[in-house]
Amino acid sequence: MRTMDTDSPSVVVDSTASSAADSRRSIRQYEPTPIPDADLRELLRLAGRAPSAYNAQPWRFVVVQDAALKARLAAAAYGQRQVTAAPATIVMYSDMQDALERMPESMHPGMPEDQRTAGVESFRATFTGQTVEQREAWGIAQSNIALGYLLLLAESLGYATSPMLGFHPEQVKALLGLPAHVRITALVTIGLAAEDGFAPHRLPAESLVTFR
Ligand SMILES: Cc1cc2nc3c(=O)[nH]c(=O)nc-3n(C[C@H](O)[C@H](O)[C@H](O)COP(=O)(O)O)c2cc1C
Repeated sequence: MRTMDTDSPSVVVDSTASSAADSRRSIRQYEPTPIPDADLRELLRLAGRAPSAYNAQPWRFVVVQDAALKARLAAAAYGQRQVTAAPATIVMYSDMQDALERMPESMHPGMPEDQRTAGVESFRATFTGQTVEQREAWGIAQSNIALGYLLLLAESLGYATSPMLGFHPEQVKALLGLPAHVRITALVTIGLAAEDGFAPHRLPAESLVTFR
């Protein structure tokens, strides 16, 4: 319940999420310790809990741990050294073609059958006629929600990250053998931090928020 006469939050805030939001920062130096596959799978499962319009979930992930492949990925990312320094780099991309094909699977099984059918038809009607560019721009917007989840969840699980948009998308796609129609959302290096990074610095919230 929200009360009008207090500045305190009116909801119980999950301390793990709030402390992760406060402590997270980009880290570009990492310990060489590999990340257990189980941790990566759990992280990406949880990141996939992100909501998306139509529940379309167009995000896809490739986890790159192979040293030779990481070196080539770093070259495609303007030589950014965090890619080779981190034990893993997650390549996030949007695949709306696959999302379109899997729409019946994405619709909630608890919905009445006629609503599920209508949802699939509405999704297909919206996106089938669009260009790849148009539909992947939408897919990237959805995927960025999962990117935010991923960064916050990694922090809460004890892993440092650095998200990156500085790369040649076509080179990254060619390296990983990704289909031409997909669009890369971001690269995310991940591992145990070997530097403090910069303390988070943000514009004051009060300068970004209005209440009416
Ligand atoms: C989508 C996205 C792309 C970014 N691309 C790069 C990048 O290519 N190289 C880099 O060093 N940092 C990159 N950053 C890191 C930002 O510079 C950083 O998040 C921002 O300055 C805030 O710092 P903090 O993450 O330490 O709080 C990126 C961040 C985001 C969210």
